[in-house]
Amino acid sequence: MEALVCRKLGDPTTPPDSSQTTALSLSTSQSIPTLTSPTSVRVRIKSTSLNYLNYLQVLGNYQEKPALPFVPGSDYSGVVESVGTDVTKFKVGDRVCSAATSGSFAQFIVADEKELYGVPEGCDLVAAAALPIAYGTSHVALIHRANIKPGQVLLVLGAAGGVGFPAVQIGKICGAIVIAVARGSEKVELLKSMGVDHVVDSSKDNVIESVKAFLKTRNLKGVDVLYDPVGGKLTKESLKLLTWSAQILVIGFASGVVPVIPANIALVKNWTIHGMYWGSYPANDQGLYADTIKQLLSWLARGLITINISRSYKLQEAHLAFLDIRDRKVIGKVMITFDDPKSITCSRL
Ligand SMILES: NC(=O)c1ccc[n+]([C@@H]2O[C@H](COP(=O)([O-])OP(=O)(O)OC[C@H]3O[C@@H](n4cnc5c(N)ncnc54)[C@H](OP(=O)(O)O)[C@@H]3O)[C@@H](O)[C@H]2O)c1
Repeated sequence: MEALVCRKLGDPTTPPDSSQTTALSLSTSQSIPTLTSPTSVRVRIKSTSLNYLNYLQVLGNYQEKPALPFVPGSDYSGVVESVGTDVTKFKVGDRVCSAATSGSFAQFIVADEKELYGVPEGCDLVAAAALPIAYGTSHVALIHRANIKPGQVLLVLGAAGGVGFPAVQIGKICGAIVIAVARGSEKVELLKSMGVDHVVDSSKDNVIESVKAFLKTRNLKGVDVLYDPVGGKLTKESLKLLTWSAQILVIGFASGVVPVIPANIALVKNWTIHGMYWGSYPANDQGLYADTIKQLLSWLARGLITINISRSYKLQEAHLAFLDIRDRKVIGKVMITFDDPKSITCSRL
């Protein structure tokens, strides 16, 4: 099968080759993964989305470091191609999605049936691959950690990015007053079209001044919940906008700078700081993890959330998808998609 293989850590934006001099190389003779247990399922992948973590992982800068060589890639959707003898939830031909720790930049992947989620009728199979990590992170952060309430002011940084865009949508679903920060007119226009209450274009507006002016027009005291996947200077500025008893959701550091949140100010202002790592939920709260993905899939089927796919690439073009991530061009999600097979072979373990 075709797979993208990381044989050494390095820059994933360099075009993959088969000479193994680049971090990523395209293999056309990777072994198709075999079923590993009676409850395992092999999925023919239709679509896999890129997350910032995939970029960091190939660079060697992510907290989870798979042993080399590895096939990168985390969340994916596809069609069940083969099932183990004890599989009860799925049959060959079912549409599924999931998030793996690695391995989705390939034509096939094997997972235990409990790690897979049926993609309901009405959900686009390609879009479903964008959902588990980005939407799962924002859903748990806003609903279960911050317990966001209607009328609260939510400030989303990196609001047109992978996790930011879902945070905006989930904030609106929860009835929050949503302020979004993003760079450039294309991102700003999309966010406005989503009904965001105030959008700051960080390429030309001063974030503090713009947000303060908006709060004043609405007679609002400040920001109640900060959703922060960016870090650095933007976090430092955003802290100046928080109300007494605000909540800070520490999601990530796309700026490359881990921000300092002074404990003395957190004390005086009664702030709550939530560290939030979605990847730790399967091991620590599998029930919440599963319920979250099922609810998001049902929201997607009912049109409550929309997945914006800024571009789709073929596996051999993966470096271009990584370039979009690196150059902050992604609006929503960037995907790698595979052609439909001419026929699906049926087999059991
Ligand atoms: N905690 C968790 O469980 C979890 C889950 C998923 C992701 N994350 C983390 O969240 C962060 C964002 O991930 P993502 O998948 O949403 O990435 P993404 O799609 O690339 O979005 C990141 C956004 O950050 C903004 N940004 C601001 N300054 C930036 C800079 N200097 N470099 C790059 N981007 C910058 C960009 O928006 P503008 O260009 O509009 O400013 C961009 O849209 C990453 O650190 C990732 O590891 C954490």
